[in-house]
Amino acid sequence: MALPPTFLDELRLRTPLPGLIGRRTRLTKAGRQWKGCCPFHNEKSPSFHVYDEHFHCFGCGAHGDAFAYVMRAEGASFMEAVERLAAEAGLEVPKPTPQARAREQRAKDLHGVLEAAQASFARRLHAAEGAAALAYLKGRGLSDETIARFGLGWSGAGRGALLAELREEGIEARQMVESGLMQDREGRLTDLFFNRVMFPIRDRRGRLVSFGGRILGDGQPKYVNGPETPVFSKRRNLYGLDLAREAVFRGAPLLVVEGYMDVIALHQGGFAGAVAPLGTALTAEQMAELWRVSAEPVLCFDGDAAGRRAAAKAAETALPLLTPAASLRFATLPAGEDPDTLVRRGGSRAMQAVLDAAQPMGEALFGLVANGPIPASPEGRALLRNRLVAAAGAIPDKSLAAEYRRALLDRFFAASKRPDRRITPRHARPVPDGATARQARAGILLAICARHPHLLPEVEEPLALLDFPEGPLRAARDAILAWLPAAPRLDSEGLIAHLAESGISVDFVRKPELPPGARPGATPAEALEAFWQIFGFLRGEGELVEDLQAAAAALTETADEGAQTRVIRLAVALDALRRGESGEDEEGG
Ligand code: UTP
Ligand code: MN
Repeated sequence: MALPPTFLDELRLRTPLPGLIGRRTRLTKAGRQWKGCCPFHNEKSPSFHVYDEHFHCFGCGAHGDAFAYVMRAEGASFMEAVERLAAEAGLEVPKPTPQARAREQRAKDLHGVLEAAQASFARRLHAAEGAAALAYLKGRGLSDETIARFGLGWSGAGRGALLAELREEGIEARQMVESGLMQDREGRLTDLFFNRVMFPIRDRRGRLVSFGGRILGDGQPKYVNGPETPVFSKRRNLYGLDLAREAVFRGAPLLVVEGYMDVIALHQGGFAGAVAPLGTALTAEQMAELWRVSAEPVLCFDGDAAGRRAAAKAAETALPLLTPAASLRFATLPAGEDPDTLVRRGGSRAMQAVLDAAQPMGEALFGLVANGPIPASPEGRALLRNRLVAAAGAIPDKSLAAEYRRALLDRFFAASKRPDRRITPRHARPVPDGATARQARAGILLAICARHPHLLPEVEEPLALLDFPEGPLRAARDAILAWLPAAPRLDSEGLIAHLAESGISVDFVRKPELPPGARPGATPAEALEAFWQIFGFLRGEGELVEDLQAAAAALTETADEGAQTRVIRLAVALDALRRGESGEDEEGG
């Protein structure tokens, strides 16, 4: 809702900052302005200056007006800050324009529709039809109180039953589609959620915005999440943020974990500051949301290869957003455990131990970039130093970047003095450069095809679909596809020899760090699985979802085995992608 600038000016004028800030921070007069210790970072000597209409910290760069202060000091949104200050100043916030009002009304309608659905889901969970779902949740250790606090429910069997029920409350089919509860398939409305345990998703202010639905037991897809709607964005929301915000306010640490069940299990185990992204890697928008609640949220990652990749990815996303007042900590779970299993098996103490061992960003980053022992060769050392300097350089705040640079290089030299000591990073992955990681994956995919050409008839089409950057790998891919129709036999040696004769570089099959699935000794099933995992990563989530929808449509039409296999492969690739498994460097194997 847009407010007239004159109103905001008036409100600023009526809210002298020294008075507002002075309530929480001791300020002393220094000439025409006021000075104190900065409320946004830790300092002993005052470098925080307050003027009538703005504040500025010479230590951390925090800067802004009364609204910015309330937003940062209290984790309020802009509108919340305006409303609070207006109430104190005795001003009335102007009424929104008719358009803005209509928009708000529509959003309110959607929240209402979702709330009505949630009430139905919760009721169904405790009715006879929900018995299996309730038993499932209890079997996973959830108490009645927890089930109620998170508003868990049972979707029912679908087939329009929810709409039939909500019609009684005056809700129309159109609203069911708008709120993401039903899909319009060429005029035929179908339920998005059926035979699933329902997890209401609320925004930071506690308004119901969507649902996630889990299948009972095993099956694909494990979770279905509501689509993007006017009130729900997967990139911006975090599961559990409304409850976590309150808990953090009362002193709990803000924890970021992977899944719905982890958030719920942690709450029940006494860690009420837990939140989770919605099935994707943490986005920049979600990090900004986190920092509105806590200056240093703790990200929890699995101790396996996928967890380390996820940690590196999070660090990469965070670097350009870091400020002296917004950082991260990294906690590592024991391999094979997620917070849900950890608190259930080891209790809160096991989880607390993991949190106590969390590393601040400044420490974790070295391990993430170095990713192994410090190289001995001048070239290797120079390369690593460049990467460390580049990581620090990604931080926009100049002083902070300089501090990181110095700390990273100090560690580099300290570790170099002990050449026999392995740096065992707890999140051993470099912050990958997007293009480099893509190249590496494309190379692995081609190595799988070159070592296992018997797969080509099955994977020809997806391989052709991929968007390879111009260069030797694209040339190799095109040559492999050109070879296929005329090939006398689908044998690896023949294909590699043919490529070499055609002047195509076959370096990609000789890389020492190929994953098991790309090695000559892999079984056909291993090779195929590796292909689809890496394909998923290269294709990207959005496209993969479309591929899957197309394949599912084809399956409905033809019902043949090939189409069915393809749906399963794509679903598995999408699942792996969403979990952050790229398949190229799993441990062991
Ligand atoms: P997990 O597979 O770790 O699920 O996926 P979980 O939350 O631990 O659930 P349980 O313990 O198996 O019941 C982590 C998150 O990834 C998203 C969901 O947000 C899930 O909570 N996800 C997972 C999907 O969106 N779709 C899927 O098919 C799977
Ligand atoms: Mn789990």
